[in-house]
Amino acid sequence: MCETRSRLPIALRMLLASFALLSILSSAAFAADSERGQRLFRVCAPCHAVDSDINKLGPHLKGVVGRSAGGLSDFRYSKAMSEAGAAGLIWDDKALAEFLSSPKTKVPNTSMRFWGMWFQSEIDDLIAYLKANP
Ligand code: HEC
Repeated sequence: MCETRSRLPIALRMLLASFALLSILSSAAFAADSERGQRLFRVCAPCHAVDSDINKLGPHLKGVVGRSAGGLSDFRYSKAMSEAGAAGLIWDDKALAEFLSSPKTKVPNTSMRFWGMWFQSEIDDLIAYLKANP
């Protein structure tokens, strides 16, 4: 009986310690990094160019940060994306992060076939890489 009581605080302390460690790691090791973003961009590259204005299956993403959604005149966007742009959607950090974590939630009926990224740190790195290609 006594044992369970004394073990609990230890477990709790370990839990707290691991949270502390996690927050240190996430602030130090996961600062937005465009080099990591470049590696992550490999999943986007089959459909998107970022260092040229050539459209593939998806619109080119050169200078996409700050661009209006559906903003290229030489790409055939879905109706959903064109309307989102007409309604004022601009690809700033926040909008990009939301779109990349779940394209279908941010722009319902988008034709971008991508499941979304899981980790905010990956999204931050990708956006840093997009910014490095104005
Ligand atoms: C299977 C192909 C495919 C993949 C993979 C893909 N995309 Fe797309 N993406 C598209 C298509 C197609 C569109 C146009 C969507 C529409 O018109 O609804 C698009 C649109 C976009 C837009 C909006 C651009 C604009 O001009 O409004 C952004 C930003 C974007 N993608 C980023 C990404 C990023 C970053 C990745 C990688 C994490 C990625 N996409 C992966 C096909 C893809």
